[in-house]
Amino acid sequence: MYARIAGTGSYLPERVLTNRELESMVDTSDQWIRERTGICERRVVADGQTTCDLAEQAALRALEAAELKPSDIDLLIVGTTTPNVVFPSTACLLQHRLGLGECGAFDVNAACSGFIYAMSVADQFVRAGTAKRVLVVGAETLTRMLDWSDRGTCVLFGDGAGAAVLCADPEPGILSTHIHANGGYGDLLKTDVGVSTGFKAEPGGGVRVSMRGNEVFKVAVNTLGRIVDETLAANQLEKSDLDWLIPHQANLRIIKATAKKLQMSMDQVIVTVDRHGNTSAASVPLALDHAIRSGKVQRGEKLLLEAFGGGFTWGAALVIY
Ligand code: ACO
Repeated sequence: MYARIAGTGSYLPERVLTNRELESMVDTSDQWIRERTGICERRVVADGQTTCDLAEQAALRALEAAELKPSDIDLLIVGTTTPNVVFPSTACLLQHRLGLGECGAFDVNAACSGFIYAMSVADQFVRAGTAKRVLVVGAETLTRMLDWSDRGTCVLFGDGAGAAVLCADPEPGILSTHIHANGGYGDLLKTDVGVSTGFKAEPGGGVRVSMRGNEVFKVAVNTLGRIVDETLAANQLEKSDLDWLIPHQANLRIIKATAKKLQMSMDQVIVTVDRHGNTSAASVPLALDHAIRSGKVQRGEKLLLEAFGGGFTWGAALVIY
């Protein structure tokens, strides 16, 4: 039994924050941001809007596309590193909002790889026969923990959510998933405070993303190169067998490096980072939903999904849509 993508959905908050606006906040320029990252604008949640609010909209759209009712879902997994509260998990909050009944519901925190990790877990449940219809969501409000005076990070991130409904099917869907982590790189991209280390008395609870961007960049390019090789080898496929690359949307230069490694033309690569920046766990499902709704990706085509993020974590999924 395979896990097949039955429907996808995504949601971006209304507020657009342009590079030009950031010029008045930190010492940066529209040109620098575009050239170094490919980002033109990002979305920012409204006051009071939460990760669960974004996840709810994306999930409703995915359920509609899959032509399923909330009560049809028998497992919910949410990839997020910015949950509403420590607990209940965002998955439990979302389960209640959507009226999913009493299906299992839990969060996965793997930073930007959160959706690929969640998809990998869902795939194991479907293959094992313990779940038939899984709702997988990636949702983030990263802007809530940005240091808006740090030009090295605040220009990169944005808020959003994406979702996919995976259904058990004898026809091939997800062919394989591959997840990895190396906690030895934890210091290159992190927050310094948390529940058991204590919070500081600052707005936002003192949680702030810090990153050694240049070092992250180099490891990301090398690691993504290795994971695509691993994924192709596991399926005895050649680079030329792939129809689409749906990468984590962090930086256009990293995306181009991975496409080059795969000898894929940029026409076969889904790029949405220009419109929403790095939305962490929401990034891959946002790009996937765009690829499907825009009509680029067609049923039967082979997609390589990949992500890299804080931890470090990384992963890939090879999927027949
Ligand atoms: N505007 C203008 N100048 C800037 C800015 C900015 N926003 N940010 C940094 N600079 C400056 C630096 O201070 C530096 O100046 P100097 O030469 O005078 O010292 C110069 O630009 C070059 O800085 P680098 O860090 O070397 O620039 P780089 O080309 O590496 O680009 C970037 C920086 C965009 C952060 C890049 O390194 C990157 O994308 N890194 C990877 C981020 C990523 O992929 N994260 C994925 C995981 S995210 C997650 O898991 C939550």
